[in-house]
Amino acid sequence: MARFLTNKHILLGITGSIAAYKSADLVRRLREAGAIVRVAMTENAKQFITPLTMQAVSGFPVHDHLFDSAAEAAMGHIELARWADLILIAPATADFMARLATGMADDLLTTLCLATKAPIALAPAMNQGMWRATLTQENEARLKKSGVILLGPAEGDQACGDVGPGRMMEPADLLQKVNELFRTGTLAGCRVLITAGPTHEAIDPVRYFSNNSSGKMGYALAEAAREAGAAVTLVSGPVQQKPPAGVTMLPVVSAQEMYAAVMRNIGEYDIFLAVAAVSDYRSQTIATQKIHKTDGLMSISLERNPDIAASVGALPDHPFIVGFAAETENVIESAMQKRQRKNLDLIVANRVGDGVGMGSDDNEVTVLGEELTLHLPKTTKQKLARELIAIIAERFKK
Ligand code: PMT
Repeated sequence: MARFLTNKHILLGITGSIAAYKSADLVRRLREAGAIVRVAMTENAKQFITPLTMQAVSGFPVHDHLFDSAAEAAMGHIELARWADLILIAPATADFMARLATGMADDLLTTLCLATKAPIALAPAMNQGMWRATLTQENEARLKKSGVILLGPAEGDQACGDVGPGRMMEPADLLQKVNELFRTGTLAGCRVLITAGPTHEAIDPVRYFSNNSSGKMGYALAEAAREAGAAVTLVSGPVQQKPPAGVTMLPVVSAQEMYAAVMRNIGEYDIFLAVAAVSDYRSQTIATQKIHKTDGLMSISLERNPDIAASVGALPDHPFIVGFAAETENVIESAMQKRQRKNLDLIVANRVGDGVGMGSDDNEVTVLGEELTLHLPKTTKQKLARELIAIIAERFKK
C-alpha cells in the first residue's frame, strides 16, 4: 500500500518514448494514493501521448513550454519547481538523461530539474542497446553522483522486438518505489503525541468560543512524523481535516478534554508536539438552556484552562517537548519566554494574523531552542512539517 503519498506534490515529466502511454496510468495510481500530480511534457512526448489526455488524468493543464506567457502567469516555471516535492521523469529517454547529465536547460523539463530543490527521480525507457551504450552508462553514473535517483530500467521484451534492460518500470512498481522515497525513518521506533486544532469552549448548548486554527499544521506534522517511522497519536480539537492514515486519533472538544487526553497518555510517548491553539479561558458556567438576549450589555465570566504544555513540562520524567507560539507582535521574544516558562525543549514561533499562519495553507516559522535559532521560510504546511520533523528528530536524538 502506498501510504506516504498523501498530499505529496509530484511533478511528472514525460519525454519522447513509446512508454509514455503508461504515464497516464501512473498519474491515476499516484492520485489514488493521495498525491497531487502536475505534468510537464517535452515536444517529443506529445508524439506518443496527448497533453489533453494528461490534463484529463491529472486534473491540471499540462506544462509544455518555457516561453508560454499564459502558463507563466498561471504558475511560472520557478514556482512549479518550488511546488514539487518530487520531480519524477517517467519515461526518461537516453537523450533526456544526456541533457540532464550535462546540466543543460534548453527546454522546460531540464530547466525545472535545474531549478528545483526537490529530489529528482528518473525511470529510464529506451532500447537495450541504447541503455547499454557506454555514453548512456556514463550519463547514468554522473546523474547518480549528483543525487538523481534512478528507478529501473526493467528488463524484458521491448517495443522494438529486442529483449534486455531498458523497459520503463511498470506503473504499479514505480508507485511503490516513489512511495518509499517519502519514508524517511528518522523517527523509527519513536512514539509521538501531537495536539492540533482549536478547542471549543461552551457557553450554552448552542454556542461556544474558539479561534481560527484549522488543524492543518498539526495534521501535517502527524503525517510527517508517521512518514519518519514514528507511531503517532493525534489529540485533535474540532476541525475539518481528514485524519491522516496510520495515525491514532483522539478527538476532543474542549481544553479540559484535551488536557485529560494528553495527561492520561503522555507517559507512553517519547515526543510531545503541542501544536493546538488551546483556549486559555473557558466560561465559568455553561448555561443548561440557550441564553436569550436582553437589552444592554452581556458579560460572561471566564476562568483559566489548564496549560497542557506546561503541565507536561512539569512532569519529572517528561518527554521531549516542542511547543508552538502564535504571535502577532514581538514574535521571537514572546516565544523564547514561553519556551522557558513552560519548560519546552523547542518552540516554533509563527507570526499570525492577516491570513498568515493560522487557518492558511502556508506558514513561516522560527525554531528556537538552547543555542538554536533557525528561520524556515514561507512554504506549505506539509513541506514545513517535514523540515520540522527532521530538525526535531535530530535534536531529540542529541
Ligand atoms: O491549525 P492551523 O490553522 O494550521 O494553525 C497552526 C497554529 C498557528 C495554530 C500553530 O502553528 C500554532 O502556533 N499553535 C500554537 C497556538 C498558540 O497560540 O499557542 P500559545 O501561544 O497560546 O501557547 C504556547 C504553547 O502552549 C502552544 O504549544 C500551545 O499548544 C500550548 N498551550 C497553550 C495553552 C494551553 N492552555 N495549553 C497548551 O498546551
